[in-house]
Amino acid sequence: MPKELIRLSNCTMAFDDEVVLDNINLYINDKEFLTLLGPSGCGKTTTLRIIGGFQMPTSGDVFFDGVRINSVPPHKRAVNTVFQKYALFPHLNVYENIAFGLRVPRVEEQKNEMGKVLSRRKVKLSEKEIDQRVMEMLEVVNLRGFEKRRVTSLSGGQQQRVAIARALVNKPKVLLLDEPLGALDLKLRKDMQNELKRIQKAMEITFIYVTHDQEEALAMSDTVVVMDGGKIQQIGTPEDIYNEPKNAFVADFIGESNILDGIMRSDGVVEIFNRQFACLDSGFEKDEPVDVVIRPEDVDIVPENEGQLKGTVTNVTFKGMQYDIIVDFYGFKWLIQTTDLSPVGSRIGIKIDPDGIHIMKKSQYSGMFGDYSSYSEEYEEISDAAYEPGEDGQEDGDEK
Ligand SMILES: Nc1ncnc2c1ncn2[C@@H]1O[C@H](COP(=O)(O)OP(=O)(O)OP(=O)(O)O)[C@@H](O)[C@H]1O
Ligand SMILES: [Mg+2]
Repeated sequence: MPKELIRLSNCTMAFDDEVVLDNINLYINDKEFLTLLGPSGCGKTTTLRIIGGFQMPTSGDVFFDGVRINSVPPHKRAVNTVFQKYALFPHLNVYENIAFGLRVPRVEEQKNEMGKVLSRRKVKLSEKEIDQRVMEMLEVVNLRGFEKRRVTSLSGGQQQRVAIARALVNKPKVLLLDEPLGALDLKLRKDMQNELKRIQKAMEITFIYVTHDQEEALAMSDTVVVMDGGKIQQIGTPEDIYNEPKNAFVADFIGESNILDGIMRSDGVVEIFNRQFACLDSGFEKDEPVDVVIRPEDVDIVPENEGQLKGTVTNVTFKGMQYDIIVDFYGFKWLIQTTDLSPVGSRIGIKIDPDGIHIMKKSQYSGMFGDYSSYSEEYEEISDAAYEPGEDGQEDGDEK
């Protein structure tokens, strides 16, 4: 049974009159890898700072292990932070950078069962204990043998690992990581993603991770929290977020999506471009306008006369594993991923299985995303402008 460790309850943060976090409700389980994901300025760092104690919410409460900790300062929370600019001490070697936090005397409090502090004493670790802990951490981050190296002589990825070791050496219950891989190149980033995941599992620490990179979030997390405009848009597993996005913002932000206007004719039947498609969704009002998400990999290309929809290819990009093609259906451009080449200008048909269609409620984000027109403006003249919406639909729209 997962155990709840941290809870943000109705947290709002305003600077002057500008609300940057709007009534955030979120809980984080012990040993969970949770990622805050969203575009620049959506409030990720602010949320992290509230958890770390660097910022007090304007209103709302923060709980740790069931205890309200709004006014507990950062150094008294069982939380440590790794920032994007890892700020190692340049004059200290790797060993001393990691040992630094262990050398600071810590105040240990003796409390009675009511929580009242009876006595306080300063504890200092012995050199032997420090050595043992530092060597343990070097092992965890794969930097055994680097202890004497100056941190300025290390690569970006190695420096990042020192920063992580330094943050973990005090054995925090929670590690906050704010875009820790932002400065690394793509290959190193991928290696470090695996490394971080491994460390988190091995040390059984709760990680709260901030990124604006959706691939990174999907690859690493147990739970993803998608944010926009100071609000949580969706919380779920990577699979939930990808397969069942709650609104057009989430669908667009996570992966590639064609997002179309549809009308829910009945349970399991949605109408797009005057055509009826079978889907698996239900529970909508009859004839309710909806947003329909179709992922580029869920579209099958068939000969034009066999297609549920027929369109013209306006752009082709070779991506190694597949082709990304842009197809114009009645003036709306879709992205389709396919292993078969359909050249620019060709007419194709498409089929979509019921499980390739996902229905969402209309939201403030409707109509803002999910059209790939800008992909292929240079091919505009090739697309078949004479094709009117509904032209096909009236011919054979009642096939189903
Ligand atoms: N101390 C502050 N004073 C005023 N405004 C602030 C302050 N801190 C953050 N903000 C504003 O709050 C909003 C959210 O900022 P935050 O740093 O949380 O975003 P973010 O999601 O971490 O973005 P990024 O991906 O760019 O780091 C921004 O509009 C920012 O300008
Ligand atoms: Mg930030």
